[in-house]
Amino acid sequence: MHVKKAVIPAAGLGTRFLPATKAMAKEMLPIVDKPTIQFIVEEALKSGIEDILIVTGKAKRPIEDHFDANIELEMNLKEKGKTDLLALVEETTDVNLHFIRQSHPRGLGHAVLQARAFVGNEPFVVMLGDDLMDDKVPLTKQLMNDYEKTHASTIAVMRVPHEDTSKYGIINPGEEVEKGLFNVKNFVEKPKPEEAPSDLAIIGRYLLTPEIFDILDDQKPGAGGEIQLTDAIDTLNKTQRVFAQEFTGTRSDVGDKFGFMTTSIQYGLTHPEIKDKLKDYIIQLGKELDGNKPKKAK
Ligand code: G1P
Repeated sequence: MHVKKAVIPAAGLGTRFLPATKAMAKEMLPIVDKPTIQFIVEEALKSGIEDILIVTGKAKRPIEDHFDANIELEMNLKEKGKTDLLALVEETTDVNLHFIRQSHPRGLGHAVLQARAFVGNEPFVVMLGDDLMDDKVPLTKQLMNDYEKTHASTIAVMRVPHEDTSKYGIINPGEEVEKGLFNVKNFVEKPKPEEAPSDLAIIGRYLLTPEIFDILDDQKPGAGGEIQLTDAIDTLNKTQRVFAQEFTGTRSDVGDKFGFMTTSIQYGLTHPEIKDKLKDYIIQLGKELDGNKPKKAK
């Protein structure tokens, strides 16, 4: 069976971006001119996903509006002959999107459980909005290609600095069955560096078999008192094989302020409208900052 459905959990409170996210969904924060969630939706479409469910929560209405037609705006742009802007606005409406609200945010595992009826008895992917991925073949497509070979759940991982293991789900890699594909021994959510079985961290793309739902239904809260997807995957791994695929492309973590800033700069440096001005600005800024360096004593 081919993978056709994706689930994007977007019910988090976005506390790392307060006060900006007090009344606005963090998924709508733009990288230059595109909301972060649009990058995720585009990755899904490029991978051949046909249906997407976004699990939303409080203050998430703008996400629904963003992917809906805005007739008034479209008419206005048409009248003014702004065809390039019109194309950008219409680009977001041609997607098979579904929404469900998670009324009580009880953790990532609980958010994914809300997708049970949508997914049914098929394999599916989960895509987290904090990580933007760039590679020749989209990461979600890479996991789908693995599935064609293994017919098993496959989780994307990447090496992280050892001191950062407590920010991620970490795998105990087990046997490397082919280059970069591990038959995982077990999964641990946010272990301290001294307890981490490796430096291979889960990075927000999962291909899962539907048996995960029965497990999530019974899942007790884990790290941080939340129902953790990682714990459910560890249980799944006891009854069927679960693989991890090491990602070697570029990952931008837009879930924290520093990652958000650097991603904005990088994206800006490829953006046709502003790339030249931005480059000049950065060069100038570099010179000014250099000029402010204390002079070395002779
Ligand atoms: C979640 C997962 C974690 C994963 C991370 C990737 O954590 O629980 O296993 O490594 O996403 O971004 P969160 O960042 O929501 O705390």
